[in-house]
Amino acid sequence: MELTEAIRRRHMTRSFTKDPLPKDLLDDLLALATRAPSAGNAQGRDFLVLEGKEQTSTFWELTTTSQWWERNPRRKPLRHAPVVVLPIANQQCYLSRYSEADKAGSGLSDPASWPVPFWQIDAGFATMVLLLAAQDAGLGAAFLGIFRGEDRLLATFGIPEGCKPIGAVLLGYPAQTDPPSPSTHRPRRAFEDVIHRGHW
Ligand SMILES: Cc1cc2nc3c(=O)[nH]c(=O)nc-3n(C[C@H](O)[C@H](O)[C@H](O)COP(=O)(O)O)c2cc1C
Repeated sequence: MELTEAIRRRHMTRSFTKDPLPKDLLDDLLALATRAPSAGNAQGRDFLVLEGKEQTSTFWELTTTSQWWERNPRRKPLRHAPVVVLPIANQQCYLSRYSEADKAGSGLSDPASWPVPFWQIDAGFATMVLLLAAQDAGLGAAFLGIFRGEDRLLATFGIPEGCKPIGAVLLGYPAQTDPPSPSTHRPRRAFEDVIHRGHW
């Protein structure tokens, strides 16, 4: 698939079949995600890969409530996704990298001095590569925020201090019926409204 086509076709899949992903395919997608750019080439984005019902169920149990599932029955097929990847912003990699000789003058050894947390940007860039790679491979993928249970998630899966999941990427084969989220009914903002040339 051409990159342009993958970008145009990409959308969040919210309904998956229960079919597992071949290991090699998953590894290929993850390897592509590690090609994303990173500040100072710090490469401080890690991926916690949860595969199979036992691991993915633990993820859902820690981060959602039964009321959340009951409120909207259309959410149920999200759980079928055989793989959940947590892209993780690894702050310490940046603090260490920007303390090295070629970067030490930047004064960025303290997280509060960063104009924008590059560790979160880089985790986002890598996530986008993962979403596009999944599209390119004919898979379905969805990015979801994590709104609860983060502390328990870190403890359960042994995620070290200073490492923060920026959300979760569900990966799998799209089910035949995949009703779009109400958010996608919002019209795309007009090109002229979004692009500011020379001055806002
Ligand atoms: C940072 C971010 C957080 C998101 N969080 C959620 C979420 O928690 N649940 C969800 O169903 N979709 C979530 N989405 C998906 C958006 O709703 C979706 O990307 C948007 O409606 C546009 O649809 P499309 O990606 O299918 O084009 C999130 C997307 C982004 C970029």
